[in-house]
Amino acid sequence: MLTVEKLVAGYGKVRVLHEISLDVQEGQLVTLIGSNGAGKTTTLRALSGMIKPESGSIRIGGAEIAGLESHLITRRGLAHSPEGRRVFPVLSVEDNLVMGAFTRLTGSRPKGDVKADLARMYELFPRLAERRLQLAGTLSGGEQQMLAMARALMLNPKVLLLDEPSMGLAPKLVEEVFSIVSRLKAAKVTMLLVEQFAAAALEVADFGYVLENGRIAASGPAERLKNDPAVRAAYLGAAH
Ligand SMILES: Nc1ncnc2c1ncn2[C@@H]1O[C@H](COP(=O)(O)OP(=O)(O)O)[C@@H](O)[C@H]1O
Ligand SMILES: [Mg+2]
Repeated sequence: MLTVEKLVAGYGKVRVLHEISLDVQEGQLVTLIGSNGAGKTTTLRALSGMIKPESGSIRIGGAEIAGLESHLITRRGLAHSPEGRRVFPVLSVEDNLVMGAFTRLTGSRPKGDVKADLARMYELFPRLAERRLQLAGTLSGGEQQMLAMARALMLNPKVLLLDEPSMGLAPKLVEEVFSIVSRLKAAKVTMLLVEQFAAAALEVADFGYVLENGRIAASGPAERLKNDPAVRAAYLGAAH
């Protein structure tokens, strides 16, 4: 569904990603793990067009999207829930969600779906249902994270990119976020999940990639990576 080949990207003259290749099959949950500064966020930014790749190929369902404007990439079915959960603070929860569906309204999808999708999001995220008229800026960190995820899902994306959804959350909320990711996986949402909690990410994922200094250092079925001595020592803590 998402195929990345030899992607090179960075900021100005600074190269961060050096020919990275990865693949996310339809219905799969793939995780990208790696230390701080490895280039995980940069990868997602390059995929969603927030930064322009220098070279390489990015395809969704076979169609090339590398170099397209980000709103066109969104329309091709790639949704990005960015690092730091950017929601519109002075809009209500519900208006944030409707905004999430906005791009697809200009595309091929019928408008009638929005109501049904709102209902689906409220079912998936009951906390958001309780707070649908509350201004997003007044939500807790965990609730804002859920809103950012739900807003991205309102696009009905072919692929959902999630950048550290657990970042800065209390342990209980981290658990909740992972349980939502599991539910999305059960619902066959195709996802690329970037996570600092490598152990938890490998627990829910089908397949994993390890990014080191902008290069893919290891990859494989999540189960295998979880038991790989080098991965364990570097990312899971040797004692696990
Ligand atoms: N906006 C930016 N401008 C310049 N360099 C950046 C910018 N954002 C990130 N970087 C650099 O790119 C590298 C990878 O960062 P990032 O992709 O955020 O890593 P990760 O998400 O894996 O922690 C780091 O060296 C970081 O300093
Ligand atoms: Mg990051």
